[in-house]
Amino acid sequence: MKEIDLLLLSGDGVGPEVMESAISLLEKIQSSFKINFNLIEGLIGGASIDAHGLPVSDETLNQASQADSILFGAVGGPKWDSLPPNEKPEKGLLELRSSLGLFANLRPAILFDSSLEASSLKPGIIKDLDMLIVRELTGGIYFGEPREKKSSSAFNTMIYERHEVERIARVAFDSASLRNKKVCSVDKSNVLEVSEFWREVVIDVSKDYPDIELSHMLVDNAAMQLVKNPKQFDVILSSNLFGDILSDISAMLTGSIGMLPSASLDNRNKGLYEPVHGSAPDIAGQGTVNPIAMILSVGMMFRYSLNQLEISEKIKSAVSKTLDDGYATKDIADKNSKICSTKELTKIIIDHV
Ligand code: IPM
Ligand code: MG
Repeated sequence: MKEIDLLLLSGDGVGPEVMESAISLLEKIQSSFKINFNLIEGLIGGASIDAHGLPVSDETLNQASQADSILFGAVGGPKWDSLPPNEKPEKGLLELRSSLGLFANLRPAILFDSSLEASSLKPGIIKDLDMLIVRELTGGIYFGEPREKKSSSAFNTMIYERHEVERIARVAFDSASLRNKKVCSVDKSNVLEVSEFWREVVIDVSKDYPDIELSHMLVDNAAMQLVKNPKQFDVILSSNLFGDILSDISAMLTGSIGMLPSASLDNRNKGLYEPVHGSAPDIAGQGTVNPIAMILSVGMMFRYSLNQLEISEKIKSAVSKTLDDGYATKDIADKNSKICSTKELTKIIIDHV
């Protein structure tokens, strides 16, 4: 197999700590499965602002477009909070998504049995939860023009082109066809024209997928249903902003946002893989961050971009086994857990791969 050029963008806060876990895992996989990685390091977010004065440089964008795949840690932190939105670390991630055309964001929320107690919801409501949020990632209000902030007013534009809704809807239907064959499309079509349009286009696309059951839900209701009865969902399809919000809710259903991986894919399944948790400046540098979201993100990379389903499944079962044995970082620990540091938990998981 050819060598895989993998760009590592650790970023800020706990980003570098979870990236270390990813690197140890990759080293193990290289030696056990005869896959070769060429690891390339790049700067993003606050780290890039400090080095180059920009949240992402042309050099990083070039590295990203050359690489076969990208692992991303997290960006942002108090040090850069006073910068305007356009210069903040987060802007680096948005530019990367947009310039690489990573329009499809897959955020699975899977509850491991061992985390039943870590969730704030009753076990009966979340046991065996396994859902997937498919979030549109390069359009909508995040990128819509015009946008402006003045002293007297400010505005953004929520806009979708037909082709943008069509392609993300197809990702949702294709994903559902490999799962439980249900898509719930989320919008705010009782208020917003852009949502009415979204709903119409999704219905048009659904005609190509007669086996998939399509439903529609208003986003406020979807937020409520996610905490009331999350197991009614299989695949949730949403626009950029709504998916951002709903994916934090669904992450929390699994007990800790430290458990949730994600993939951001282009139209050829090239991807950027990142934990959903963000930079968590409050615990950065302490060696306590939960590495599972990052480890599962590496698992998603093997599945979606590298076509190595077997390795992906091995990683998932290694995580599962580790949790079943009672090992946990603080964020998911209950009174019976054996509490581990980031490094310790990573090592135990890797030993199971
Ligand atoms: C996410 C994050 C990002 C987003 C931020 C960091 C720009 O919240 O990936 O969910 O809003 O998309
Ligand atoms: Mg978010």
